[in-house]
Amino acid sequence: MEAVMAIKNYRIYQKRRRRLAENLGKNGVIFVPGAKAVARNADIEYPFRQESGFLYLTGFTEPNALLVLRGGKRPQSILFCSPKDAKQEIWNGKRFGPEGARQEFGFHQTFANTDIEEKIRECSDLLCGCNVIYYPIHRKESLRVIIDSALGRRKEHRKNILFLDGDRLLGEMRLRKDAADVEQMAHAAQISAEAHKEILTVVHPGMTEIELEAEFTYRFRRAGGDPCHAYAPIVATGANACTLHHISTNAHIRSGDLVLVDAGCEYEGYASDITRTFPANGKFTPEQRAIYEIVLAAQKAAMTMACPGERLSSVHNAAALVIGEGLMRLGLLKKMDLFKAVRTNMHRPFFPHGTSHWLGLDVHDAGDYIVDADGKNARVLLQGMVITVEPGIYIQPHTPRVEKRWRGIGVRIEDDVLITEEGNRVLSAEAPKEVAEIEAIMKERNGKRRRGGRLKETK
Ligand code: GLY
Ligand code: MN
Ligand code: MN
Repeated sequence: MEAVMAIKNYRIYQKRRRRLAENLGKNGVIFVPGAKAVARNADIEYPFRQESGFLYLTGFTEPNALLVLRGGKRPQSILFCSPKDAKQEIWNGKRFGPEGARQEFGFHQTFANTDIEEKIRECSDLLCGCNVIYYPIHRKESLRVIIDSALGRRKEHRKNILFLDGDRLLGEMRLRKDAADVEQMAHAAQISAEAHKEILTVVHPGMTEIELEAEFTYRFRRAGGDPCHAYAPIVATGANACTLHHISTNAHIRSGDLVLVDAGCEYEGYASDITRTFPANGKFTPEQRAIYEIVLAAQKAAMTMACPGERLSSVHNAAALVIGEGLMRLGLLKKMDLFKAVRTNMHRPFFPHGTSHWLGLDVHDAGDYIVDADGKNARVLLQGMVITVEPGIYIQPHTPRVEKRWRGIGVRIEDDVLITEEGNRVLSAEAPKEVAEIEAIMKERNGKRRRGGRLKETK
């Protein structure tokens, strides 16, 4: 998240603030806090990551800032940020300071983040006559103290103010990506997809899960990814793939194992989220291939439902039907009416998670999944939404009544999908997933490794 990049594009953020201001109405105000620097141990901090909603509206990447936005046709945006501090800047680099932030980011007013309440009171028209105030009610209760104090003596006024959840309002806006979001998400997915492709030529039996994870980290960072992955990466060999949130270990990848990698870089704050599963030695066993092809077919069926006008639940149901049918065909699930099997979740022991989540600045991005008044129906997909499509089959090593040859196989295939006017665009398409494609890349790699080995032997 380079500050320079944010400056170049600051009009994007102004445009988003104007859109949000229209939704707030002329008597609405929203408080959007940025992230604070967080201590890890002693005087060491975690790498700083800006709060997603704040980043979306400002592009400002310094800690301890706050945006206050008053709605209406002539919105007012006020930023509070850390003051300039020559001594601190020697250690930690340049700060914009209020004046720099105002000039470079297009806010109406900027102040130091000291005495926030007093400054808000001084901006007399900011809270005057407002009847609704949004802030992250569930995450930042402490902000209410600042807001109440900023309202000051206007107790009567305070009684008539409705306090609502700002995360929800902003989440709805973030759900439908604009052109700038899409460009950055496509780039994040591209970096990750290329790493997943390259890794097929790098992985080999004998490597550890941690070594393979490091190969991803190296590729993400080299290609311009942010300091941290978009989420804790999952590199799982053999039966470890059946633990959904497996943490990489020193376990050695063995010939004959499948390796599941769920890894995505973050790029300028935007997440990518890709899973691929491949054979460590370059060739699927018949059982691995049978399971893999069911998951791949399920993913393709789900993709056909990832279109504007379809419900998110239809994407999942399409995957579940293919998985249910496949498991019955292989004798892993008792034969019965397929629709009844899926309706009653018979597939759940093998496919225990959903197929999709929103993707954006957060890997599990903002936005409600159900908006119907009765709370029953999943949301209808619209152009500009980005979802993952990630079915899987996991046969736990100790599953009763399952032949030994199937046990410990875990497969997930996950792509990042933008809903477009006509259907969808797979942002992570560069990462190979067809059996023939994976085996061909790995066969070529094996050939090179063998030739390399012979050369060494003859030295
Ligand atoms: N890697 C996190 C997820 O797939 O949801
Ligand atoms: Mn995911
Ligand atoms: Mn994932």
